[in-house]
Amino acid sequence: MSVPVLTIDGPSGAGKGTVSRAVAKKMGWNYLDSGSIYRSLAIAVLKKKCDIADLKSVVKIAEAMILEFECGDELIVKLNGQNITSELPSQTTANTASIVAAYPEVRAVLLQKQRDFQKAPGLVADGRDMGTVVFPNALKKAYLTASAKERGKRRYKQLLEKGINANLAEITKEIEVRDRRDQERTAAPLKKADDALYIDSSDLPIEKVIEEVLNLVR
Ligand code: DC
Repeated sequence: MSVPVLTIDGPSGAGKGTVSRAVAKKMGWNYLDSGSIYRSLAIAVLKKKCDIADLKSVVKIAEAMILEFECGDELIVKLNGQNITSELPSQTTANTASIVAAYPEVRAVLLQKQRDFQKAPGLVADGRDMGTVVFPNALKKAYLTASAKERGKRRYKQLLEKGINANLAEITKEIEVRDRRDQERTAAPLKKADDALYIDSSDLPIEKVIEEVLNLVR
């Protein structure tokens, strides 16, 4: 019998990470934060000072990258042996990730790295195309969203809590630009899978969203 997967897709700042971690913990399942894989590639590209428009080099970096994930209370990510966890949340990382993620060749290289997370007893997979491309046969699917204004506020708060300087208006604008890029790309764009449960969390406390997703998977 195949290992059950719950996919949670949606735009950035919708609360996918918090909900996915909480549900994975409750179910005792593994957790895939697919955004961190694209973010790690962005960091690798930036570190190598590689031209982001140079597709061949970006693909080479993606192929060579060795990623290690330690899933405790906080996700620790190592790129080629180096701990890059503190570099993951920045806006530069996020924006670069969204740009490299638009290349179909890059997505093809990273596909298996994501599918490898499907291990017993189950997996909660969080991203943009988890239910549509990476795990189309998932047991259950959710699509979590919220207004750009609300998501901007949440991201702003998160960054401040991490000690990262931020400007609310700028963050909201960047979120809108990134949403558009993620939705309009031809390769695995951000969209709700036909069989996903749609949840708008703009006016919902996060506990309610967690409960709703848990009810879906139980
Ligand atoms: O979820 P996140 O903010 O960490 O994702 C960063 C970027 O990575 C996002 O703007 C687009 C890309 N991404 C993607 O294309 N597909 C995924 N499954 C996850 C993230």
